[in-house]
Amino acid sequence: MEQRGMGQPEGVTAPSCDQHRLMMMSTSDTPTELRGVFHAETIVVGGGIVGCAIAFELASRGQEVLLVEQSEIAGGTSSAAAGMLAADSEDFAHPILAQAAYDSRELLHKQKDQISALTDMDVGLRRSGFITPFRSYSDLSQYKDKRNASSDSGQHWWDRSKVQREVAWLNRETYGAYYKPLESEVLPVSLTRAYARSAQMMGARIWEGVQDVRLLVNNDRVRGITTAKGEITCKHVIVAAGLQGDLLMHQVGVTLPSSPVKGEMIAIRFPAEQTAYRPDRTVYAEDVYIVPKANGEVWIGATSLPGRKDHSVSANCVQRLLGAASYWVPGIKEADFLRAWAGVRPSTPDGIPYIGRCGQITGLYAAYGHFRNGILLSAITGRWIADMLEGKSAEEIGIEALSPDRMNRRGVML
Ligand code: GLY
Repeated sequence: MEQRGMGQPEGVTAPSCDQHRLMMMSTSDTPTELRGVFHAETIVVGGGIVGCAIAFELASRGQEVLLVEQSEIAGGTSSAAAGMLAADSEDFAHPILAQAAYDSRELLHKQKDQISALTDMDVGLRRSGFITPFRSYSDLSQYKDKRNASSDSGQHWWDRSKVQREVAWLNRETYGAYYKPLESEVLPVSLTRAYARSAQMMGARIWEGVQDVRLLVNNDRVRGITTAKGEITCKHVIVAAGLQGDLLMHQVGVTLPSSPVKGEMIAIRFPAEQTAYRPDRTVYAEDVYIVPKANGEVWIGATSLPGRKDHSVSANCVQRLLGAASYWVPGIKEADFLRAWAGVRPSTPDGIPYIGRCGQITGLYAAYGHFRNGILLSAITGRWIADMLEGKSAEEIGIEALSPDRMNRRGVML
């Protein structure tokens, strides 16, 4: 995971997150030093949204799990995300991912009740629906040409007069828009911490600040991990370490490359007298997305800069995002600017995450490379990994296309 750039996306203005931080007790859960041989049935490496969702699912099935994170829970890419559960809006590199996105969004809504029963944490999950607006008939046609027919199922067409009636805060010149009522959004840091905390409540151990993790492999079988605190033996290791996953795997001769795609975002807030102009649902346009959050802020994103893993935010990006956003929601010009930040998405050469067993090494699993959709696909990734640990094959689950072993078959070189 990469560390967050400027800004503290949720914590600054959402007091509930500070409470959650205190409740995490994850640092006190971390031993200062490991004495003797420490063992866990399954180790998850990475405390971002994917690792925490896996720990949550395993713990909820009564599995013994230890999650290790080099910095803090949700300290990296997960903290920079917009938190859109955009199953009907995103483009996916494989049809399996499109279906998985839908399933994962619905699974998250179910998990929310389990999480709040365990922790009383509010993850800001809301199904307020998304608007995809168009400037002209020609823009609409181009959009339809790019999308396949199945993606039309979850959406309704609104013509200009319907748009003006339903979303008065949207540009009145809008030609028309798709309304996608099932689309949802969540506070990503809150969700990540809530997964971790819920997993703890169900018996998982969550250790933060565990540095220098390396995989311990012997005779093509995972034996555990070594860390700056000492050695931990285990039966299974799940590498859910985002961009760092690549390096961990490489150390044991497994080639699962990932590359950074930086994204910049900004947060604004509407003053009390301007709330009539504040969007009350997400605008997911071709050039920008505008996401009203449960903490009262509106997040606007995002740039896409392949190969960049720094966390600077350029003035040009702020100008471009604000320009695009205020075209769609003119009231944004009167809003207060709060902050800007950057995160780094982990992408893979084929745009498909690595999820599943690494055939070369018994007991080793990958769960990284989710690119733009880590938050959205977290819940289903947790379920799939837990299914595999219970003995199901990728074929049985229907996710062979996501298998890390596809890279061996293609002879990918680092
Ligand atoms: N999930 C949207 C993005 O990565 O920009």
